[in-house]
Amino acid sequence: MRIVLSDSKSSSIDAVATLLYDRLSVHPTSVIGLATGKTMEPVYAAFVEMVKANPIKLDRVFFFMLDEYLGLPDGHPSSFKAYIQTHLIKPLELSESQFAFPPVHAGSIHEAAEHYELSLKESGGIDLQLLGIGTNGHIGFNEPGSTKTSRTRLVHLTGETQKSNQGQFVDGKVPSDALSMGIGTILDAKNLIMLATGESKAAAMKYLMNHHDDPTCPATYLKSHSHFVLVLDPEAASKINLKI
Ligand code: GLP
Repeated sequence: MRIVLSDSKSSSIDAVATLLYDRLSVHPTSVIGLATGKTMEPVYAAFVEMVKANPIKLDRVFFFMLDEYLGLPDGHPSSFKAYIQTHLIKPLELSESQFAFPPVHAGSIHEAAEHYELSLKESGGIDLQLLGIGTNGHIGFNEPGSTKTSRTRLVHLTGETQKSNQGQFVDGKVPSDALSMGIGTILDAKNLIMLATGESKAAAMKYLMNHHDDPTCPATYLKSHSHFVLVLDPEAASKINLKI
């Protein structure tokens, strides 16, 4: 694990946006895994600005979304599909055909999850996976108790996660279930970049530093990945002993 401790929230955001921009400048046919959440919003905004200031070709990039809520109608404003349409697809005029979304509207979720795994494999695998982290250490929607070998599947959200994500719901009603890439799926990505910003992530960061392969904090599984970059702002790093 490589840790990048930034001197401000904005430089942590710029660091992640730059890693994505640089990757796509050099490898325009990359497969990118995308995370959602408040943390990632300014990263996508910074990336959009970078592309507009210094255009790069993005029409051969393929994107896989990390997770999605179950039970929302297609086009629901709080779905992760709507999120990525707002923050990336529309501002960069990307085509939706460049995106794979977890098939939450399929008749058989189990079969659809297997199909998502197959699509990931057939794409050649994710070159770069962006990740945030939940306050309880969840990754994607891999809640505490998830196994290291888990694959894309239906998951049940904890009360803590539902509460944390409530602010992103117009009606405050967060679904209880989701479809999420598993930890094993995420570990298959060639490069992982996690961004944690703000004081609300400080406890999870401290736990992450001090534990390894701990099912109560799924983020700890990522420490065994050979290309895992963790980018922190000063507040997220405030409970760990790191110096710039
Ligand atoms: C959701 C997403 C995660 C994200 C997490 C943190 O639960 N499924 O991928 O990392 O929220 O969100 P935020 O960045 O809003 O704290």
